[in-house]
Amino acid sequence: RDVETPMELGGEQGRWEEERLKTASLSFGAKKEREQGMRQEQEKYQLILEEDEMIDFVSTAITMKGTTEAPSSRSSEIQAFMKQSMQEVRRSLPIFPYREDLLAAIHEHQILVIEGETGSGKTTQIPQYLLEDGYTKGGMKIGCTQPRRVAAMSVAARVAEEMSVKLGNEVGYSIRFEDCTSERTVLKYMTDGMLLREFLTEPDLASYSVIIIDEAHERTLHTDILFGLIKDIARFRSDLKVLVASATLDTERFSCFFDDAPVFRIPGRRFPVDIYYTKNKIYCYKEQVLIMHPSSCCTFVLQEEIEACCELLQERCRRLGSKIAELLVLPIYANLPSDMQAKIFNPTPPGARKVVVATNIAETSLTIDGIIYVIDPGFCKQKSYNARTGMESLIVTPCSRASANQRAGRAGRVAAGKCFRLYTAWAFKHEMEETTVPEIQRTNLGNVVLLLKSLGINDLIHFDFMDPPPHETLVLALEQLYALGALNHLGELTKLGRRMAELPVDPMLSKMILASEQYKCSEEVLTIAAMLSVNNSIFYRPKDKVVHADNARMNFVVPGGDHLVLLNVYTQWVESGYSTQWCYENFIQFRSMRRARDVRDQLEGLMDRIEVEVVSSQGDNIPIRKAVTAGYFYHTARLSKGGYKTVKHQQTVYVHPNSSLFEEQPRWLIYHELVFTTKEFMRQVIEIESGWLLEVAPHYYKSKELEDSSSKKMPRKQGKTKEELG
Ligand code: CDP
Ligand code: MG
Repeated sequence: RDVETPMELGGEQGRWEEERLKTASLSFGAKKEREQGMRQEQEKYQLILEEDEMIDFVSTAITMKGTTEAPSSRSSEIQAFMKQSMQEVRRSLPIFPYREDLLAAIHEHQILVIEGETGSGKTTQIPQYLLEDGYTKGGMKIGCTQPRRVAAMSVAARVAEEMSVKLGNEVGYSIRFEDCTSERTVLKYMTDGMLLREFLTEPDLASYSVIIIDEAHERTLHTDILFGLIKDIARFRSDLKVLVASATLDTERFSCFFDDAPVFRIPGRRFPVDIYYTKNKIYCYKEQVLIMHPSSCCTFVLQEEIEACCELLQERCRRLGSKIAELLVLPIYANLPSDMQAKIFNPTPPGARKVVVATNIAETSLTIDGIIYVIDPGFCKQKSYNARTGMESLIVTPCSRASANQRAGRAGRVAAGKCFRLYTAWAFKHEMEETTVPEIQRTNLGNVVLLLKSLGINDLIHFDFMDPPPHETLVLALEQLYALGALNHLGELTKLGRRMAELPVDPMLSKMILASEQYKCSEEVLTIAAMLSVNNSIFYRPKDKVVHADNARMNFVVPGGDHLVLLNVYTQWVESGYSTQWCYENFIQFRSMRRARDVRDQLEGLMDRIEVEVVSSQGDNIPIRKAVTAGYFYHTARLSKGGYKTVKHQQTVYVHPNSSLFEEQPRWLIYHELVFTTKEFMRQVIEIESGWLLEVAPHYYKSKELEDSSSKKMPRKQGKTKEELG
């Protein structure tokens, strides 16, 4: 296959710094061939560009005459691919020739590790093969877990379509706060977290004949816990088949963990991908992402930047007008509603081009066909956890080399492609980690510990972890659950703990909801819980209407803090009759509100089970703030001379500029989450009185540590008062 030479890229030869590297093969042979040492080696070009050269090259690409006819050979390949019928696509997938071998291997072994390049058909085909082979006889189910909700929904939709059945009938999905399955469902896609929760009602997973733990390489916390639980039940459920499916990463480790389970390798099929690096560091990567190409392209950005990125792209297209071919700009991220998600899979109309702006969801969980160019800014947002302070934060960090390679791989699925890395080759080699650290080692374990305790697993230290979490993290989780009242001093689940585990939310949120019973404000607290769970996407702030949007936002401000602002937004929306128009006029994201309403309905539905009566505090916000405090007393910050510091660990933290309390600066606050971008920002904060801490957590706080250093009130910072803002 001809790979485009640097010349053809539009530059003169010599302008590119070219580095030719031999890299490990991108395509794996079948297991046997591999053993015979027939692993093919492939050569890759690595070109290094100056930053302005990159822009230059790309702007040429945008304004180039005839951009509608992308390099002809390539577009015909793509067109041919796109023209295939669904059944033809099924038969053309790399997994198809191995159907019989795979079924035989599954028949023979109880546990099998399956490795295959993204897009080879693991997720959509294997469950169908199993169904065709009789694994759902007698109403038994095949379960397939996905770390991401969007992936669970979209693959279920795709499989339903391939099988010509209605989604939710034979094929369904289950994600938190949304169950799209029925009595008839035999192929069930679900998030890994949902399968974990199923253990609570069906500890041996008796209704399943096969469990597929998909995307195992992602090593999410829930997937890692599933490994241990499923390995355990497989011992006494000899009829249960367990498949561990993964992209081409780490499969030996999975095999090793599952007592040397055999690895079934689906030979890859990947076209060469040229990799370009910048010569210099690019600092403003967001701008750089907005590069367009004469064909489909995919770029990876952070979720909160996606909308802005899409807007900028569209704006540029408008300005270029008819100078460029039609460009479809499509976002894809976790909370995107399903009708919008479906769009990225729709074929591009003839002559048009498509840009998919994605989070790392498109790295391996979703296959978008026809992507030729990948632009990789090289970042991801990662949870990190400080086991000493118990502080969890989201940090924007360079992604791992493994991630970067997966991203690049998206370009070579149906034809040769290119990947533009918006970082230097040096950074790739020296600043990026080889692989991503498993989530279990960098997250708060409260949720999982509570769940395992409710499953009767008391000895967590000896739980069969593939990679054990740090000892301090485990101990801290136990301590926190004890402080919340979920465990007694022997580490046993209390009645409160049992009720907390019934709610599919984090222990602190769970506790907040349960505390609302005592403070008689469950009506309001349920709303707040739902609004918090849609996560910072309530307010809409389009670039060209920033002033209007900010004014609209100010109008929702009420005294007390962000939780109460969220409550106010929701209440007004309910009064408007859940109106779309109202959202539009007030710069509120209708989709987020609709989701908050769904979440609220679901939570309210669970109140019966945990015996909490739904009552309102009738406009008094003190009980509401006390309930928040009862759940989140760990997240308390106090204003002192140098700014805010957390109470227990004296860590400096800042109120997020978007907060309604940004200028107010109350003495005591509770924050919902901490996000590290340029600083440690507290997001969603509420004002409290220190005395409440003793009321809700007497075993955690001593009155001495809550004394103010000076009895005088701190002078207010210059800024608008609430009244002025209101
Ligand atoms: O799981 P794996 O990455 O191995 O592949 P898959 O998700 O089963 O995807 C196999 C093929 O199904 C893709 O190459 C697409 O052609 C198609 N597909 C699709 O068109 N729409 C989806 N939502 C999912 C898959
Ligand atoms: Mg998959």
